[in-house]
Amino acid sequence: MNDSSASDLLAKGSRYYLPIYRPRDVILERGQGARVWDRDGHEYLDLSAGIAVCGLGHNDPDLVAALTEQAGKLWHTSNVFYSEPPLRLAEELVAASRFASRVFLCNSGAEANEAAIKLVRRWAASQGRAPDHRVIVTFRGSFHGRTLAAVTATAQPKYQEGYEPLPGGFRYVDFNDLIQLETAMAAGDVAAVMLEPVQGEGGVMPAASGFLRQVRELCDRHGALLVLDEIQCGMGRTGTLFAHWQDGVVPDIVTLAKALGGGFPIGALLAGPKVAEAMQFGAHGTTFGGNPLAAAVARVALRKLASPQIAANVSRQSQALREGLLAIGAGFGLFAQVRGRGLMLGAVLKPAFAGRAGEILDHAAAHGLLLLQAGPDVLRFVPALNIIDAEVAEGLKRLKAALADFVAR
Ligand SMILES: Cc1ncc(COP(=O)(O)O)c(C=O)c1O
Repeated sequence: MNDSSASDLLAKGSRYYLPIYRPRDVILERGQGARVWDRDGHEYLDLSAGIAVCGLGHNDPDLVAALTEQAGKLWHTSNVFYSEPPLRLAEELVAASRFASRVFLCNSGAEANEAAIKLVRRWAASQGRAPDHRVIVTFRGSFHGRTLAAVTATAQPKYQEGYEPLPGGFRYVDFNDLIQLETAMAAGDVAAVMLEPVQGEGGVMPAASGFLRQVRELCDRHGALLVLDEIQCGMGRTGTLFAHWQDGVVPDIVTLAKALGGGFPIGALLAGPKVAEAMQFGAHGTTFGGNPLAAAVARVALRKLASPQIAANVSRQSQALREGLLAIGAGFGLFAQVRGRGLMLGAVLKPAFAGRAGEILDHAAAHGLLLLQAGPDVLRFVPALNIIDAEVAEGLKRLKAALADFVAR
């Protein structure tokens, strides 16, 4: 297999891919738990987990078993025939969610949010609301995906520029600003408010304490739906299976993807009773949604990520990681703040180092540590939720060495 050099392969990336990504110059070959190895045998501690996807780490034996067992049975039926794994997954998601009555299975986060946006509009239409009374309010700093409607919901101009004309029907307000939200809803034309309980790509920014409850109250007052995008913060990442459980709200729609498949592509929309009948036969669809391979894996991921052991480990490792980051940040005078919930943490660079998160990621990779940024000023830590004490300690050690290099430059 290794018949061409790493530099040959990297050259293929720059020659053949649309140049929309800028991955680090590493070709990863295999993974085990919180560690991955490149094709030259270098080992890395992975605190990025495939962008918050590999919630159970790499090569989890139960996920591998579920996938290989299903691979020997049936790969695909599409939605013109039933198969058992997606039927069971739908039932299990409904039960686990504590609010949903129906599920739509798809393949990615953007697709789940696209479905949510369409469901909001269908629901509003079924209530007799005119198209200009189906506005969806979203928050600055949000990220909801790259399809045209999802990127329009994403209230960050850098993701939208050059894709105009954007679809209408969206309105943006500042995150955690209730007064702005109240004003935005005052005209009575809002059909839904959509938000991430913890903004991910926008800088690992949690909703302020009590904010989600206040948003729910405003939605109820104005006859609007509450849509929660838990694509990054859900599936146990913040210490509970769903992040919004910590906020004490009942949503109308929740979207999931990323860790739901533990690395196998799958997304889901969970619909509460108010909206679950709003889309009927023919209203929406997808060829691959509910694929038996993806569903078989997701059933096991859901069961394991919902376990009390994972919740306890997230709480334990969150504390260790947070304390370690604070200590390292203080030592170098680098971080203004460490924020986030559970194993979704962001170290915010001080203004003197603004814009340099990418550089730090390069140093980290050189020291055998895979990290993410969340914008140019925030280092993002979203490791596997079953990461162990020694791995967190090793990650912090490598980070310290990487930051020493960075500061020395
Ligand atoms: C909160 C949130 N929503 C939606 C998406 C889009 O998901 P996908 O990349 O699977 O389309 C992401 C991806 O980072 C996300 O973090």
